[in-house]
Amino acid sequence: MCGIVGYVGKKAALPILMNGLRRLEYRGYDSAGVAIVGESLRIVRSVGKIQSLDDRLFGEKMIGFMGIAHTRWATHGVPSEANAHPHTDCRGNIALVHNGIIENYRELKEQLESAGHAFRSETDTEALVHLIEHLLKYPGTTLADAVRSAVRRVRGTYGIAVVRAEEPGRVVVARLGSPIVIGVGGGELFVASDANAIIGHTRRVIFLDDGEMAVLGLDGYQISSLDNLPIAKEPEDLEWTAEAAQKNGYPHFMMKEMSEQPEVLRNTMRGRLNAKNGNAVLGGLRDVADQAREIDRLIVVGCGSAYYAAQVGEYMLEEYAGIPVEVELASEFRYRKPIITSRTAVIAVSQSGETADTLAAIREAKMKGALTLGIVNAVGSTIARETDAGVYSHAGPEIGVASTKAYLSQVTVFALLTLFFGRQRQMSLSTGKRIAKELVRLPELVTSLLERTNEYRAVAQRYAWAEDFLYMGRKYCAPAAFEGALKLKELSYVHAEGYAAGEMKHGPIALIDEGFPSMVLCPVDSVYEKTKSNVEEIRARRGKVIAITTEGNNEMSRLADDVLYLPKTLEMLVPVLMAVPLQLFAYHAAVLRGFDPDMPRNLAKSVTVE
Ligand code: F6R
Repeated sequence: MCGIVGYVGKKAALPILMNGLRRLEYRGYDSAGVAIVGESLRIVRSVGKIQSLDDRLFGEKMIGFMGIAHTRWATHGVPSEANAHPHTDCRGNIALVHNGIIENYRELKEQLESAGHAFRSETDTEALVHLIEHLLKYPGTTLADAVRSAVRRVRGTYGIAVVRAEEPGRVVVARLGSPIVIGVGGGELFVASDANAIIGHTRRVIFLDDGEMAVLGLDGYQISSLDNLPIAKEPEDLEWTAEAAQKNGYPHFMMKEMSEQPEVLRNTMRGRLNAKNGNAVLGGLRDVADQAREIDRLIVVGCGSAYYAAQVGEYMLEEYAGIPVEVELASEFRYRKPIITSRTAVIAVSQSGETADTLAAIREAKMKGALTLGIVNAVGSTIARETDAGVYSHAGPEIGVASTKAYLSQVTVFALLTLFFGRQRQMSLSTGKRIAKELVRLPELVTSLLERTNEYRAVAQRYAWAEDFLYMGRKYCAPAAFEGALKLKELSYVHAEGYAAGEMKHGPIALIDEGFPSMVLCPVDSVYEKTKSNVEEIRARRGKVIAITTEGNNEMSRLADDVLYLPKTLEMLVPVLMAVPLQLFAYHAAVLRGFDPDMPRNLAKSVTVE
């Protein structure tokens, strides 16, 4: 999604802004631009990669100590130079970058055009900069006054940064529904939509809340409400380091992040497992522990991989904690009429903590009186702040667009929650201890799977011809199959369908022939015999099968065309292990097909618009 960077200080702004834009590249974008306020306001924009913006900057006099920059992911209007941000007013004195959507831009545009404003782009954003220009006509109005009045007339969502030639040394920012973080350095201030853009400069940050704006200058920052009431906020320290967001010699962020998974699992569980009591100690839930004991139903909301992690969680929680769980796509939950009582808890699962649908779902749940909990990776993100309590997944920054380590950490948090809710209810000490003991083994088991990457690559090579794939599994492996199919389709653009294996005969079997291979997840578990029958049925129709089963199960090598093995673990934890070969298969398939797995086409890392 779109990204914002801004700077005001005593250093040349351009290199800081360009570096920030590069650090936002992972989010997905199709054009970029930068505005510098020096002797005058200068703007350069370009379609395509940051490198083409860099090329366009050659020979341009972009000298100044203050500026804003943007990466755009097209929503209103095609990717073009005219539609790229920053947008300017009629006289080219104000520059504005915007994330989000201005829903009433058509009516604003009509009014402004009839007042004489000339529009140059197809974007919703341009209406906002002309509106600011219009409001500045009133004598004595500052940029901050005009921004405040303008955003109050806007319907929709925004994270904006605005500069004006006549007010050098001031950047005005505002937020409603799209993140803005201020970085506080020594005598300099940064602004970004994502802390990754500025983390190399400072780890002291302030997250703006919805309905807040700030004026940043050489003399410091002032935060206020849209009613112009001052708001006191102190910077907090970010735990993430700049190094964590580098490739460190790996060919892709995705490979680096998959390799980090054993460490991520350790971080997710660190200090949280009480092996002696077979329980999980979740500091983030301490304040709501008594309320949690009274909860009689859980609803879990998320999107994409987070939604699949939640489905694994549903199986765990129902089997071991005996608590009814419903998992819902956040995008559906917000429009349905969910039944929520005072004993319902709604859990939002989100890596970014900014996904628009998940955030909307949690707001809806809160309004209806539910206890809201978050399983969030990005510390300080909106979902983390708006939920009543929660558990950070501690995966660290995830730059690759496809969720890998974040998904694994989410599934692991569900295992911890299963202990937490289970031990509050019916789960015995011995069951709790057994799960805790097995959880501790996961990092080393994941390491052993990562070491087999060449095997996964070889299999990916053997199926490089396939344009379609069916992924199947039962029980815990049904959501694992959905997640595996999502990885393949988003990275390699191979059409992949994830199915619960029991559904095969109800439709998808019609697809099977020698040109339509299947990935069958069939560990030796309580449903192994059933899934084995699926393998036989596919083979009877000359379909090719890659089977993923448990080490020591030799019969699969007779039944399937290719077999990959997983070490033994508890059935409920198999999805953690299963994710690794599926991720690596999808990764290698993408690379073999010539695609960049870090930046799949049309995708954005954090979907902050609906
Ligand atoms: C898939 C993927 C997406 C995200 C989804 C939710 O690999 O990354 O499906 O899982 O967009 O994002 P978060 O977790 O940030 O809410």
